[in-house]
Amino acid sequence: MDDLLSLKQAFIEESASVSDLSGLQGLRVKYTGKKGLLTARLKALSAVSPEQRPAYGKVLNEIKEYIEGFLKDREAQLKEGEKDRRLLAERIDITIPGRHTPFGRRHPINIILAEITDIFVSMGFGIADGPEVELDHYNFESLNIPKDHPARDMQDTYYVSDEVVLRTHTSPVQVRVMEQRKPPLRIIAPGKVYRCDADVSHTPMFHQVEGLMVDTAVTFSDLKGILELFVHSFFGKGTPVRFRPSYFPFTEPSAEVDIGCIFCGGKGCRVCKTTGWLEVLGCGMVNPRVFEMAGYDPGAYTGFAFGMGVERMTMLRYSINDIRLFYEDDLRFLGQF
Ligand code: PHE
Repeated sequence: MDDLLSLKQAFIEESASVSDLSGLQGLRVKYTGKKGLLTARLKALSAVSPEQRPAYGKVLNEIKEYIEGFLKDREAQLKEGEKDRRLLAERIDITIPGRHTPFGRRHPINIILAEITDIFVSMGFGIADGPEVELDHYNFESLNIPKDHPARDMQDTYYVSDEVVLRTHTSPVQVRVMEQRKPPLRIIAPGKVYRCDADVSHTPMFHQVEGLMVDTAVTFSDLKGILELFVHSFFGKGTPVRFRPSYFPFTEPSAEVDIGCIFCGGKGCRVCKTTGWLEVLGCGMVNPRVFEMAGYDPGAYTGFAFGMGVERMTMLRYSINDIRLFYEDDLRFLGQF
């Protein structure tokens, strides 16, 4: 009997320190396993004298039930605790704000390019294009700019080789189109151009839109009418326009188009350098020499051409004062359009 009571006492003490399922399993094996302490007592029951056996057996049975009951309850408890711990560790806080994918926007240059294109398409102009890596012949020679012509100094050219350049303007497309097609012609050629220059108003790559109209009796009045209509569509109906004499080797006569300064209303400010006017376009009547080189009969046809910088138009439209903002990929800037 003493042996049984101290067995129970030992179990109570040991079981008090069990804190996880593997500890509990160790305890189970130690007491109720094949060679367990309790199992050994149960096996030895038959050796107890018949007089003592009922009382001894009763106590042994109580201890057996106690031990088995404890093991069962504690197991359930520990399993529950482990589940709680796991759930806590795996907890997902569904109140944390989600990560959302930012939407892309149209680049401001593309917005304005599309607007300019739409205006000319509505006036019956078609779209043409040409290569950005261009022959010196098309970029210069065929536009009446020979190798030793001082006008080459107007443009800081990237040379790929002696005969190949990155086009410095979209004007070579004029010649390429005239070589391919017969008049009447009415095209614009939007695209990238390259000049070795970089500051607040110049980037090494920028965009131009070229225009060309050729027919049997195109006059300077047609040029003025079309460009005035364009300026009024783009900058607004009341915008003042003036044509100022200028020089380009591929047009004669040549002009630059100014608009009344949209920042000061013509009073004179920092942007228009106190002149009250902003230059927006180069233009002129196609030089007969250019017709000749393109294979057109200068006696039969006349035409006009013009070219404008898309970055400049965009800066004027949105009051942007640094051209480099277009190419820095800063989403805080690009997200505003
Ligand atoms: N190609 C000229 C430039 O880059 C612009 C221009 C085009 C002028 C057509 C007259 C006619 O500055």
